[in-house]
Formats: sequence, C-alpha cells, structure tokens
Amino acid sequence: MLERRARDNDSNRYDESLSPSHNAIEVRAIVSALRPARGETVVDLGAGTGRLTLPLARRGAKVVAVDLSLRSLEINRQKCEEAGLGDQVVHVMADACHLPIRTSSIEKLGSGMLLEHITPAQERKRCVEEIHRVLRPGGRMAITAYNYSWSLRRRRAPREGSHNGDLYFYRFEGAELAGLLGHFRNPRVSGILNLPKRLAVPALDRVIRALPPLAVQSGELLFAVAHR
Ligand SMILES: C[S@@+](CC[C@H](N)C(=O)[O-])C[C@H]1O[C@@H](n2cnc3c(N)ncnc32)[C@H](O)[C@@H]1O
Repeated sequence: MLERRARDNDSNRYDESLSPSHNAIEVRAIVSALRPARGETVVDLGAGTGRLTLPLARRGAKVVAVDLSLRSLEINRQKCEEAGLGDQVVHVMADACHLPIRTSSIEKLGSGMLLEHITPAQERKRCVEEIHRVLRPGGRMAITAYNYSWSLRRRRAPREGSHNGDLYFYRFEGAELAGLLGHFRNPRVSGILNLPKRLAVPALDRVIRALPPLAVQSGELLFAVAHR
C-alpha cells in the first residue's frame, strides 16, 4: 500500500516536520479533551512515531498505539521503552478502517492528523464508524484533521493532494467533519492552530478555539470531540 510505504520511508524525518509550538497546541488539545485517568485504556489511532502516545502514557493511561507503518511503530516503541513507558503501551500494526479491537471495549480514543490521509471518502467514513464501534457507550474521542480553512480557500489551494507526491491528504470543512460524526453524541468541531506561526502560543490559541465559528474558519487543523 502506497501510504504504508511512504510512511515507513518518512518515519525518520517525521518528528522534525512539526514545530514545538504546533505540538504544544495540538497534543495538549487532544490530551486535555481526553483527560486519561491512570489505568484507563486509550487508543492512539494512526499513532505514528508517538507524538501523542507518550503524553497519554505519561498520564498513566494504557495506550494501544495503532498504525499501518511498521517503521513508525518501531520508532514509537523505542521511544516508549527509553521513557520507561514500555509496559503501558501495546503497538499494533493495523488499518484504522478495519480495527482488530472488540466492539464497545475502549474508554477513550485520540487521533492526531490521521483521517485526512485516508482515501477514498468511503474509507474515511468507515474509519469514523470503526471509532464509534470500538468505543464503549459514553466513551470519548478527540481527533484532529486538516482544515480547508478560509485562507486556503481564498488562495484557491486544492482540496486534496499529496505531500512529496506519495502522502495523500484531504482537507475537511468543519460542517463536513461534523456531519461525518453525526452518529456520535454531542459532536463538537472547532479549530486549532489559528494564528500565524510566530504567534502560535497555546493560551492565545485556546481563546480562539472557544469561538467555534471563527476557529473553524481560521484553524490550520479541525479539532473534534465527541461521545459514543
Ligand atoms: C500525519 S501522521 C500522524 C502521526 C501521529 N498521530 C502524530 O500526530 O504525530 C499520520 C499517521 O497515520 C498513519 N496512517 C495512515 N493511514 C492509516 C490507516 N489507514 N490505518 C492506520 N494508520 C494509518 C500513518 O502511517 C502515519 O503514521
């Protein structure tokens, strides 16, 4: 599969591609929405090299880190072991659209920038259905995905495309992502990374995130929280 091969090849460089300010805002948004309790099981879907896996495990959660890319999972596992978190994290190579996880078995699920890399649209829908299936009634999910923001639309940037010719991406509109989550309870879609990079500090970003119509228009990423 193209995505798996491309991610394996990209895995050594992935961590350098995101700035510390981006991580502080996105990872903090997901972790604080999930509020993992000690011993609780949290799935990190499309876990990659562990940007979200490690903060979740540091909070005491048992993390199931799922990804298609074996090389990314190896890096993820090595980081967990080096951080003394190896016993809390299980690494699973699997497709997010066909999860090898029992129905209604998971309390919480987080996912950073996975959904936009799944194609075609029916598979993105299937991935969301899988998230719904594996969560327990009342279970919570928090995810991010590329936003087709106002500034991208103004620049007539394409709706979908690829990074380096082989990593597919799709940009969601806020209402579209909310529609995909329609069968969840109380789905809330906002936007994060709302400000130019030099002003991207968590406190300012949180202020704008609290104003959903503005945040959904301006955010680099959409941020969705919902319950089963
Ligand atoms: C942009 S990276 C994000 C990684 C990590 N969540 C983070 O926030 O740093 C997207 C990840 O999703 C994984 N991925 C893409 N399609 C997938 C699929 N269908 N099933 C499981 N993982 C997938 C890729 O291998 C990659 O590790």
